[in-house]
Amino acid sequence: MKKYCYGFVLIVSVAINIFLSINLYGGRVQYSEKKLMLQDVDLGWSKKAAAEAEAIAAMPCSGHGRAFVDSLISEGGQLICECYDCYSGNDCSVYSPVGCTVDAKSGDPIFMEPFWMQNAENSAVVISGWHRLGYWYDHGDTMSIELERHIRKLHSVVGNAVTEGRYVVFGIGAMQLLSAAIYALASENASSPSNVLATIPYYPMFEHQTVFFNGKAFNFEGDTKTWQSKNDTDGKDVIEFVTSPNNPDGALTEPVLKGKTIYDHAYYWPHYTPIPSPSDQEVMIFSMSKFTGHAGTRFGWAVIKDKSVYDKFLQYIQFADLGISKDTQLRVLKLLKVVLEGDGKSLFQYGYEKMSDRWEKLIPIFSNSKRFSLQKRQPSHCNFFNQTRLPTPAYAWVKCERPEDLDCGAILAAGNIIGSPGSNFRDKDRYTRLNILMSEDDFELLLQRLTELVSLENNSIQTM
Ligand SMILES: Cc1ncc(COP(=O)(O)O)c(C=O)c1O
Repeated sequence: MKKYCYGFVLIVSVAINIFLSINLYGGRVQYSEKKLMLQDVDLGWSKKAAAEAEAIAAMPCSGHGRAFVDSLISEGGQLICECYDCYSGNDCSVYSPVGCTVDAKSGDPIFMEPFWMQNAENSAVVISGWHRLGYWYDHGDTMSIELERHIRKLHSVVGNAVTEGRYVVFGIGAMQLLSAAIYALASENASSPSNVLATIPYYPMFEHQTVFFNGKAFNFEGDTKTWQSKNDTDGKDVIEFVTSPNNPDGALTEPVLKGKTIYDHAYYWPHYTPIPSPSDQEVMIFSMSKFTGHAGTRFGWAVIKDKSVYDKFLQYIQFADLGISKDTQLRVLKLLKVVLEGDGKSLFQYGYEKMSDRWEKLIPIFSNSKRFSLQKRQPSHCNFFNQTRLPTPAYAWVKCERPEDLDCGAILAAGNIIGSPGSNFRDKDRYTRLNILMSEDDFELLLQRLTELVSLENNSIQTM
């Protein structure tokens, strides 16, 4: 009887092994069938779109502008180039430098354009007419698992944030996540709303969004230091925005108050700052805008420690827009694959070299001036590049030093430079922020205009 039993067990185990190896082998066959052999594909329906994309990308625009697939069409049916400052005409061939202003007001990160042109083949995306029509991915969520996996890998390669054991939520840019963060952290008790604060000079959208959404659970209270000096902070519910590096001045900042914090890390990337260590905060917000330069794609993500805070973030995103566009997620995935190619350093190397080159050109102009000064920069060790280096902020935070120059923006405007006034950041108008993430053409023009302004220093400059 025992002998028959052993025989039966042997037969069953052999059968199980055969079954498992067939499935394993079958699985492999299926995988190799699914694995794309790109060289064997005959292009069909994507040919027309690819030809259109390449033809338009190849339009020279006289080297002083860009044309896009969705650019305006002239009455004659010609695509109209979008020109850099001081250039005009359908092909940007008309140069009108006299009296023309350089616009350094916004934060458009056009300086990354050449990197993406160098990586044109790997970063292009073709989206079929039927790409993910539904609201949900197969796994029943609105966030791509593959994209989340790449974001986690990115942080471990760059070493700028801890993501193990943390939750990730996608948003329409960092902007949406800043507002989701207030909702998620705000007091549940409407009779004592949370006090939302930031430290001057701060990114104006913190204030604009908090006031605009006008929730019962929170109030915008302005500057941390002023509030601290006027209030007994004990027992008060506080939510503090900590922007590190800061917009406008690029400083690595710390919280002023002892409350809940929202770390805005839009600029915590090696092109702008040495990365001393991975950030490990309760709520950290990142974005594609200043990292890869894809501000127009409108994509950001939050890294969150606490499950209940994460659940509230998710709820906000679900109620606000049922998740982020699948087309956007696809494009971001493609871009991150390029960023992570090889040792994952090429984009950061490009960005850092460009930014340090720009700072090296700005510094001598300001060193010749007693009237205008720039923010101070302190070197520190960057673990990513394994070197000690200076920060290379996205913005020049210009100060007009003369006592009478109370409106620095007006003085720069008289020199044909448009910046963003200090009061936008709730600081004095003695300061003005200049974007230095613009195109090469525009940056050269900015240098020229600043040089002219400084050379006029001893003459009187007409303010507007
Ligand atoms: C500090 C800071 N946070 C957030 C944002 C907005 O980022 P996004 O374009 O991802 O919405 C910006 C944009 O300039 C910023 O400077």
